[in-house]
Amino acid sequence: MEFTKTIKMRRSTRGYKPEQVTNEELSKVLFAANAAPVGNGMYENVHLTVVQNAELLHKMVKSTAEVSNNPDANPFYGAPTVIIVSCKVTDPAKIGSAYANAGCIIENMSLAATDAGLGSVYLLGFIRAGAINDSLKKELGIPEDFNPVSGMTLGYPTEELVERNIPTDRIATNYIK
Ligand SMILES: Cc1cc2nc3c(=O)[nH]c(=O)nc-3n(C[C@H](O)[C@H](O)[C@H](O)COP(=O)(O)O)c2cc1C
Repeated sequence: MEFTKTIKMRRSTRGYKPEQVTNEELSKVLFAANAAPVGNGMYENVHLTVVQNAELLHKMVKSTAEVSNNPDANPFYGAPTVIIVSCKVTDPAKIGSAYANAGCIIENMSLAATDAGLGSVYLLGFIRAGAINDSLKKELGIPEDFNPVSGMTLGYPTEELVERNIPTDRIATNYIK
């Protein structure tokens, strides 16, 4: 797909079909993750967890409902795949890099998903709420010295992705010439 078209088609998808994505589609998305920039090129400080296990997805939804005190919590919008980005933070002063790394990785994955006609949405809320507790972290196989910082859903959107008109002035910009 042409790059500008992909950019215009990317959107946060909040409704998914139950069918699982193919391994080939998943590989494209993970390739994009590996192509993303990471601070100081320290790829060893980031870790991805691809969750396609219905029971574990359900446990994360349940945990989100508990920590957010919202029995109707639906953080993944029914997506059959959730990819969690975890980071190793050795220096608390560099926590910003962890979130920046996750942002770069997720945006790359999201554009690759769009290019393949798949839906995705950036997930921060359920992680910030503390839904991935120590026991879930273990079950998810996230290495002990890593912490989940962001996630992304992946799946077939219930509504087909279409090109959107993007206002070019919604981010205030000043120019100094
Ligand atoms: C850092 C960040 C965190 C986000 N967290 C969530 C989230 O937890 N749940 C959600 O549904 N959307 C989340 N979003 C999606 C934004 O709400 C969405 O990107 C924004 O409203 C623009 O809409 P668009 O993605 O359709 O262009 C997040 C986006 C970013 C960049």
